[in-house]
Amino acid sequence: MQHIVIVGATSTIARECALIWAKRPETSLHLVGRDDERLLAVRSDLLVRFPEVLISTHTVDFLDARAIDTLVSEIGQSVGIDKALVAHGFMPDQLAAQADLSLLKETLEVSGVSPILFAESFAKHFFASDSGTLGVISSVADVRGRRKNYIYGSTKAMISYYLAGLAHRAFGTSVKIISLKPGPTATPMTGHLPNRGLAKASKVAAGIVEAMDGPTGVVFLPKIWRLITLIIGLLPTRVFNRLNL
Ligand SMILES: NC(=O)c1ccc[n+]([C@@H]2O[C@H](COP(=O)([O-])OP(=O)(O)OC[C@H]3O[C@@H](n4cnc5c(N)ncnc54)[C@H](OP(=O)(O)O)[C@@H]3O)[C@@H](O)[C@H]2O)c1
Repeated sequence: MQHIVIVGATSTIARECALIWAKRPETSLHLVGRDDERLLAVRSDLLVRFPEVLISTHTVDFLDARAIDTLVSEIGQSVGIDKALVAHGFMPDQLAAQADLSLLKETLEVSGVSPILFAESFAKHFFASDSGTLGVISSVADVRGRRKNYIYGSTKAMISYYLAGLAHRAFGTSVKIISLKPGPTATPMTGHLPNRGLAKASKVAAGIVEAMDGPTGVVFLPKIWRLITLIIGLLPTRVFNRLNL
């Protein structure tokens, strides 16, 4: 039996990943979220389609370091974790977060600090057994601070930087660290954007599941974003600052 933990399991992209994993034989899913009702709705939806899958649900305060560590070690000790996907994130309106420091703080904590708390807790578990795959959803928004999105972008830059270090630490071990970088994807998070040009959540999820079967690495979803971010990263600052990105 392969045990997969999905943190932020109510997110659109995570739900699509769960649908793919649920199709696999001998798979058990452990869904983690902040709200029991929403988690149970995700579980019910999965069970309607795949009644044979074993699914547990777990609620936790996403900013409580001790509670996160306790939950991860409880799941780890009861079943052993093969894969963990950390998927939650929060992208407020940039101008609103500039105007309201509480909203800014919430964004930094929910989108930046919390995923890293989960990731380090899973890493502890995986390194202890020298096995396991950790995937964390960062974003192409990490590439460069842009006036339209630098608050959310900075949380993703923090995650990407952190995962680069974790992957370095994992070198020479059997632990795999996957940094997942979707481009703009059609989910409630991007509900305010025109739908044109947004990737489908199901496609991004298929890429995430495939990447989490593979080796340690950084994966862009869709792949074209590797090139786009490379170009954006290489632009001289005086050129970049003139662009309305
Ligand atoms: N959509 C995109 O264009 C895009 C692009 C690149 C990366 N990403 C990343 O992909 C991941 C999945 O996002 P999505 O697009 O699928 O978004 P989504 O459907 O809007 O889901 C957001 C998720 O974050 C959770 N969340 C929000 N605020 C929270 C809080 N205060 N405490 C705990 N959990 C909280 C939500 O939980 P509740 O259900 O309990 O609210 C939900 O599970 C995120 O990390 C996002 O940053 C998205």
